[in-house]
Amino acid sequence: METLEAILTRRSVRRFIQDKSVPADIVEKLLEAGMNAPSARNEQPWHFVVVDQRELLDKIPTVHPYSKMCLEAPLAIICCMDASTAMDDKFLAQDLGAAVQNIMLAARALGLGSVWLGVYPNEKLMNGLRELFGIPKQIMPFNIIPVGYTDMEQTSQPRYKKDRIHKNQWSVKLGD
Ligand SMILES: Cc1cc2nc3c(=O)[nH]c(=O)nc-3n(C[C@H](O)[C@H](O)[C@H](O)COP(=O)(O)O)c2cc1C
Repeated sequence: METLEAILTRRSVRRFIQDKSVPADIVEKLLEAGMNAPSARNEQPWHFVVVDQRELLDKIPTVHPYSKMCLEAPLAIICCMDASTAMDDKFLAQDLGAAVQNIMLAARALGLGSVWLGVYPNEKLMNGLRELFGIPKQIMPFNIIPVGYTDMEQTSQPRYKKDRIHKNQWSVKLGD
């Protein structure tokens, strides 16, 4: 699938085919996509917890209130940021956001569905995930990406809004 098509047709997928697991080589491709994201000073401050054990996936909704789709998903990637190795932590969330989007677009391109479940900066959610997955306290869980095959059709939506675009000066609209 072409890059632009993956971008325009990626949709949040919250329904998964339960008994269809994601092959290990595909999981590796998703993580490689994530790790090829841009990051401030190229610090690559990410870690990823790959969760494919059913009993652990089933526990995610006990710590995250909007994650019921994990009961169906065969895989979830907990994306984390490491403030201890970064020169400063101002750009950590931007770095992680880029990695997450890369993973989700790669998932789309590879015929998978995924959804972004926000975690950071909610301390309660971060601590819940730390406890569930044995994540050290200096590591900050950033989000959860449930991933899997789906029967949900992903299609583009008309979201292009000219009134959000300013040409050279804020007061000049595109096309003026
Ligand atoms: C920071 C962030 C947090 C989100 N948290 C959740 C969440 O907790 N549960 C959920 O079902 N979707 C969550 N989403 C997905 C959004 O609801 C979704 O991206 C948005 O409705 C647009 O739909 P689309 O992804 O299909 O384009 C989150 C997205 C972002 C970027």
